[in-house]
Amino acid sequence: MTAALATRCLQADAASIAEAARGLAVGGLVAFPTETVYGLGADATNGRAIARLYDAKGRPAFNPLIAHVADLSAARAVARFNADAELLAATFWPGPLTLVLPKAVDCPVAELATAGLDSIAVRVPNHKVARAILDAFGKPVVAPSANRSGHVSPTRAEHVQSDLSGRIDLIIDGGATPVGVESTIVACLDTPRLLRPGGVPRGVIESALGRTLVEGPGHQSAGANTPLAPGMLASHYAPRTRLRLDVSRVEPGEALLAFGPRLAEGAERSKMTLNLSARSDLVEAAANLFAHLRALDAAGAGAIAVMPVGREGLGEAINDRLARAAAER
Ligand code: TXA
Ligand code: MG
Repeated sequence: MTAALATRCLQADAASIAEAARGLAVGGLVAFPTETVYGLGADATNGRAIARLYDAKGRPAFNPLIAHVADLSAARAVARFNADAELLAATFWPGPLTLVLPKAVDCPVAELATAGLDSIAVRVPNHKVARAILDAFGKPVVAPSANRSGHVSPTRAEHVQSDLSGRIDLIIDGGATPVGVESTIVACLDTPRLLRPGGVPRGVIESALGRTLVEGPGHQSAGANTPLAPGMLASHYAPRTRLRLDVSRVEPGEALLAFGPRLAEGAERSKMTLNLSARSDLVEAAANLFAHLRALDAAGAGAIAVMPVGREGLGEAINDRLARAAAER
């Protein structure tokens, strides 16, 4: 990173979408909303643009990126689909599911984007701004979450601004992202594996497949230096303030991340209280998760006390993100 860039932030409309596509075409870094979180986009076929992207995020270069494409036929140009992958794509695309697949023979995506792996992560997002940009650009776009490495994922354009202003070219503001947690990642290399819980609950994927998803990265990661599932890096999602999970009592000096209608004991003395969902709705909780963590992180509390959150449906992804945010680092 040399000189600071003048990062522009534009409301999403026909003119700014055309501007985003032009920016991507000249190797620019463009943040845009998807249904899950804001992504930081770069031309997937442009190795230099991707290098700038890693630099802007401060991301370790071994962490591979997701290629976002407009539709299934564009996905077939970058990856090979087995029967499970066909079924999952037909059922969940466009939507918050990423498939890790073998690279297609003439895959145009730059090697740097896949960190040297022979597999590639692909998804077709379901957000009108993301789709309009992909349509206008006409090529795959790699887009990690638009946060500095180690920070929480952004669900609003302001989050992107606070993390990446001066480091990227353009931010397209399309309002708050509806899902609020990242896509679910399933590898279809051999037997289908859940690499990262996310916006599509595991159970819904398992019913579509008619079988159980195997957990984790599989044999390839055991002691190997190729990170098949670096989405599982222990401290990926990290507010600066320490998190204390599954609390029933708030200690003096703490802020409270609540869930459900009845607040933890001592909530009246918390420095700041935000509720993921007062009606215990896990979809609402997921949409609030990262924004609430950011706000509580800024409250100057000694720690963030987190009430227990249900583990069913999207609760698995929420608990996974909370556990990462709480990991020692
Ligand atoms: O919802 C999302 O998926 C968002 C939006 C912007 O689309 N994107 C996102 O990207 O969360 P990122 O880069 O923050 O997370 C992608 C994860 C990373 O943990 C990466 O290691 C994993 O996908 N990944 C990418 N390619 C992979 C591969 N070939 N094998 C295994 N994991 C892979
Ligand atoms: Mg991320």
